[in-house]
Amino acid sequence: MTILGGRAIRAVAFVGVLAGATAAAELLFPSKGTQPGGLDGGFPFDDIDTTCVRCHSQAAVVDPTGYYMPFDTWLGTMMSNSMRDPLFLAALTVAEQDKRNIGQWCIRCHSPVAYVNGDSLPGNGSALNSLDDEGVTCEVCHRSMIDTTDPNSPYEWNAQITFDPTDTKHGPYSNPSPFHATLQDPFTSTSMLCGQCHEVKNPLVNLIDSQGNDTGLPFPLDTTFEEWSNSAYNGATPTTCQDCHMNADAGTVRVARGGPTHDNPPLHQFVGGNAWGIAAVYSTLADGGGFLSGLFDGGYWALISDAGYPNAYLAAQSAAVANLAGAATVQASGPTGTVPAGTPFALTVVVGNLTGHKLPTGYADGRRVFQQISIVDATGTENVIIGAYDTSTATLATDPQLRVYEAVQGTFDGGADNHLVRHNTIIKDTRIPPTGFQATTDTVPVATTWFNAGDGGYVDFDQGQYTLTAPTTPGNATVKVRLFYQPTTREYVEFLSTTNQSDNRGTALEQAWNSTGQAAPILMVETSTSMTVGPPPPDAGQTDSGSPTPGPDASVTDGGTTRSSSGCGCHSGEGSGFLAIAAWLSFARNRRLRRG
Ligand code: HEC
Ligand code: HEC
Ligand code: HEC
Ligand code: HEC
Ligand code: HEC
Repeated sequence: MTILGGRAIRAVAFVGVLAGATAAAELLFPSKGTQPGGLDGGFPFDDIDTTCVRCHSQAAVVDPTGYYMPFDTWLGTMMSNSMRDPLFLAALTVAEQDKRNIGQWCIRCHSPVAYVNGDSLPGNGSALNSLDDEGVTCEVCHRSMIDTTDPNSPYEWNAQITFDPTDTKHGPYSNPSPFHATLQDPFTSTSMLCGQCHEVKNPLVNLIDSQGNDTGLPFPLDTTFEEWSNSAYNGATPTTCQDCHMNADAGTVRVARGGPTHDNPPLHQFVGGNAWGIAAVYSTLADGGGFLSGLFDGGYWALISDAGYPNAYLAAQSAAVANLAGAATVQASGPTGTVPAGTPFALTVVVGNLTGHKLPTGYADGRRVFQQISIVDATGTENVIIGAYDTSTATLATDPQLRVYEAVQGTFDGGADNHLVRHNTIIKDTRIPPTGFQATTDTVPVATTWFNAGDGGYVDFDQGQYTLTAPTTPGNATVKVRLFYQPTTREYVEFLSTTNQSDNRGTALEQAWNSTGQAAPILMVETSTSMTVGPPPPDAGQTDSGSPTPGPDASVTDGGTTRSSSGCGCHSGEGSGFLAIAAWLSFARNRRLRRG
């Protein structure tokens, strides 16, 4: 079959007429928004490195120690790296194996520039250039606009974005830039800007519901926008994606060289929970310095190397860890009276969702949040009872009482699997709904009753009860409850690697994963409750069976002495950066300097 070049596709899409059967086969489905070639004759997309960075970066401003400009905060995020992400690339190859040229659909979101410039075919990404690799670039958001000639614009899914054909940058401010046209556009500050991509629906496969009925709806792979828009956050005065994902910088600062100062401008620190992904991308950039100095040849590297752009990745990673710490609440209540040693007792745990969508949301395959329960006995020894994670094998111990929040997709006939372009059914969705959630066919919890409010609606928390066994040593004990977020699992990485029959992206992913702690769970929040353990009941002396069964993690440990802060060998936020801690400290210092 002939593979069409970018030019041919442009011509086809631009005039809206299919030139022939081959072209029709290559454009897998019709869509709206700016099409390949749609900016031909207009203003082409700019290269960030040579344009925006000259004015919207730390390097460009008078204050060389500051670290808050759009470019600085954006660079280390997953959106800046969405086309270099080794997990994405490995999944793209498997998708292409399953359905040739479906990759054009993937690439349209992960690099809208590539789609519009006609580089998204072949679907495996072999026609991409370095401009396309810049991912979700500045102009993707700042030239995105409502198409006033199309009453249905904007589209809340599949990156059907309309781009301003001129150089005009749409944004929140009314004052013009002396260097490029600007337009104060309320659209930039709406959740819909984000919803254009954070709602992923496979246009080729319909959703089959749990009864086996074809719903006629395109299969919903990611539904972050829909979860948000059907929650209390989408009220009369909405709490937007930007409100939570672009924290205000504290201070009065410039956001451009030559521009005025602004009070508390929003930071471009678009982070979710995927702190590992940032490290994984960074690990693939051969050597951080080489990549980054290549990016900034033209003298900028010399200006910025003091604070150092590797810090951009570290800062984004730290911001993601901090974001996770504010994403949920955990409460635990244990027994009030004395519990005889070695006897069962009940523990109630409530986990509340503070995010504006499900917890977790977005990409389903491999992503999960789980609870971990441990008991510190009277001798000070901590044993993980439920939710033990063994970092040496990257596995989570199974337990019938374990509470995992995740979505599992697959096919109605075949069950769970990781071939995402074949998914046609949701097998399980136990992610915690947001406040005021109204379920839709796409977003209804599946195979769980955890969130049922009793009136047909859903609550924004999970209240569960465990039956545990008191320690054998009488005295004061503490039950600890921790909530962990895991960006991806061993099973998913191994699937993408072993299923790959086409290129080295599976191996590259495995290498990145191995060199970055194998995406170990990240501690979100923890709480504890104390209990009093009494002497064992008179008739219980015969065995030791009442003692807590140590999880696999406990069996591979150092006796619990050095694990007091996390108890599971997982990343705990502090000091877990993928770069030397010294680099982080220098970032923190620079930031303080600016404030002082
Ligand atoms: C030569 C300097 C310069 C360059 C290069 C430059 N900008 Fe600007 N830009 C400015 C100034 C100055 C402002 C006004 C800033 C303000 O209001 O604080 C501005 C404002 C903006 C705004 C805010 C618009 C609004 O109305 O809210 C956006 C968005 C923007 N620029 C994006 C970009 C992007 C994207 C690029 C690269 C393609 C870029 N700029 C390149 C100097 C520049
Ligand atoms: C994912 C979308 C997105 C990307 C990518 C993005 N921006 Fe923005 N930017 C926004 C939004 C949204 C606002 C306004 C936020 C608000 O209203 O709270 C904004 C605000 C701005 C502003 C004015 C206020 C401020 O925060 O500085 C400038 C200047 C700007 N962006 C430049 C850039 C540049 C340069 C890049 C690339 C390095 C970039 N943006 C990348 C979404 C984006
Ligand atoms: C052009 C499509 C596009 C637009 C518009 C867009 N995003 Fe994204 N976003 C992506 C892609 C693709 C990724 C994932 C990249 C990856 O992990 O490989 C992503 C990742 C993210 C992440 C990180 C997720 C994680 O797992 O940690 C956050 C947070 C995020 N986006 C928020 C936003 C917000 C807020 C807006 C609007 C201001 C927005 N995005 C607009 C495509 C987009
Ligand atoms: C009330 C605050 C809030 C609002 C509103 C909000 N988010 Fe989030 N979001 C968070 C927090 C906190 C996290 C980190 C927890 C997590 O990763 O699930 C997060 C995580 C994410 C992630 C990472 C996925 C994951 O679960 O790992 C993406 C992507 C994202 N948000 C996109 C969006 C988009 C798009 C919108 C608007 C449609 C939005 N968020 C609205 C607070 C919010
Ligand atoms: C409509 C836009 C869109 C389309 C189409 C799309 N994605 Fe994504 N993708 C996203 C967004 C947004 C995220 C981030 C969501 C999150 O982090 O929760 C993401 C995240 C991912 C991730 C997780 C990355 C990480 O580091 O955790 C993988 C893998 C991925 N996409 C693969 C694909 C593949 C393969 C295709 C095509 C078959 C595809 N995507 C199509 C928007 C899209």
